[in-house]
Amino acid sequence: MDYSSEPPHSSHLVVRGKEPFNAEPTAAALVEFPLTPEDFVFCRNHGPIREFDPDSYTISFKGTDKDAELSINLIKSLFTKVEVVSVLQCAGIRRREMGNIKPVHGVPWADGVVANCRWGGVRLRDVLQHLNLLPDDNTDLHVCFASFATLCQDDEYYGSSIPLAKATDTDPGVILAYEMNGEELSPDHGGPLRVVAPGHLGARWVKWVDTISISPSESPNFYQQRDYKILPPDVETKEAAKPLWSKYPAMTALPLNSVIGTAYKSSPDSVFIKGYALPGATGQVSAVEVSVDDGETWVRMDITYQEGKLSWSIWEGQVACKAEHGNVWSRAIDVSGKVQPRDGEWNLRGVAFNGWGRAEW
Ligand code: MTE
Repeated sequence: MDYSSEPPHSSHLVVRGKEPFNAEPTAAALVEFPLTPEDFVFCRNHGPIREFDPDSYTISFKGTDKDAELSINLIKSLFTKVEVVSVLQCAGIRRREMGNIKPVHGVPWADGVVANCRWGGVRLRDVLQHLNLLPDDNTDLHVCFASFATLCQDDEYYGSSIPLAKATDTDPGVILAYEMNGEELSPDHGGPLRVVAPGHLGARWVKWVDTISISPSESPNFYQQRDYKILPPDVETKEAAKPLWSKYPAMTALPLNSVIGTAYKSSPDSVFIKGYALPGATGQVSAVEVSVDDGETWVRMDITYQEGKLSWSIWEGQVACKAEHGNVWSRAIDVSGKVQPRDGEWNLRGVAFNGWGRAEW
C-alpha cells in the first residue's frame, strides 16, 4: 500500500503506528477542551489517507430497486444543513489497560481515542427520501457505507453498516458530514464526506464514504463481520476466534465510561481531579464520582460541560486528602441509574474497556 502521498498530520498526537497512521492525544490534553480541536482529534486508519477534490467527488446510492448518484456539491446545496455535537470514540479505547489483564490484539491505545466535535452535514434520511430510495417498510434492512476510494489492510475496501431504521431516525440518525467544528472536514478525518453515526462505535463512521447501499443484510466487510466484536473471555487466540466471528453480533454502542485526565495535589489537604465521561447505550451521563480509598467512599464531581445527549461530559472537583501521593478512581453514572463497573471485561480484541478510571498523583 502506498503511504507516500499522505497530508501532514497534527503534531499534538502520540503516534501509535505510522503506516497506517494511528495516533492519539493524551487524556490530560483532551480534557482541556470541551469541543475537541481538530489538532487533538485522534486518527484511526486501516490504510492510507488520501486527499480528494471536493468538486469532483460523487457518492453512489444503491436502493433495493434503483440507484442514484449525487455530487458533494449537490448534497450541500439540496439539503438543509444540520449540526450535532457528538462524541466519536474508537472501540479500542483503553486497550492498554485491558492488556494489563491479559495480552490483547490491536493498536495499543491509551485513553485518547475519543473526540467531542460539532459535526455539520445533511441527514441521511433527507437524502434517501429525496432520491426515493427509502422503502416504506424498513424493518430488517441495513444501510451499508463503503469507501472504495481508499485501500485497507484486511479487505479491498473499508465498510460498515447500521440497521436502516436506526440510521434514518431523526434523533439524530446518521449525518453525512462535510464539516467538523465549523471547518471543512480534513482528509485525516474523512473529508470531503464521512459518516457520523452518533451512539455507534467509531468503526461505523466511514471516512471518505463513496457508496451507500440499502441491503437485506449487514455489510459483508471485514470490519463489520470479523472485527469489532466482543468475543467471550475464554477465546484467547486468533485461531480460536476464527470460527466464532460470525456467531457474535457486531458492536453498536460503546459502554458508559469515565477517565481521569489530570490529578494533582492542589493544597496540603486536597487533590484536584479532572476528566471526561462517556454515555453508553442507556443514556447520558448524570453524575461522576471519584474515590481515593479504592471505592470505599465516593465524592461527587461537578460536570462542567455537556452539550446534549450525544456529547461527552467534562467533570472536575477537589477531594479532601492529606497524602502526598496516592491513587484516585472515577466512575460515571447515567440517567438510567447504571453505574460504571469496577472491572472491565477482557476480550481478545481489547474492545469496550470500561473499568473504573484510575490515576495517580
Ligand atoms: N473509514 C475508512 N475509510 N477507513 C478507516 O480505516 N476507520 C474507522 C472509522 N472510519 C476507518 C474509517 C475507525 S475504526 C474509527 S475509530 C474512525 O474512523 C476514526 O475516525 P478519525 O480517524 O477521524 O478519528
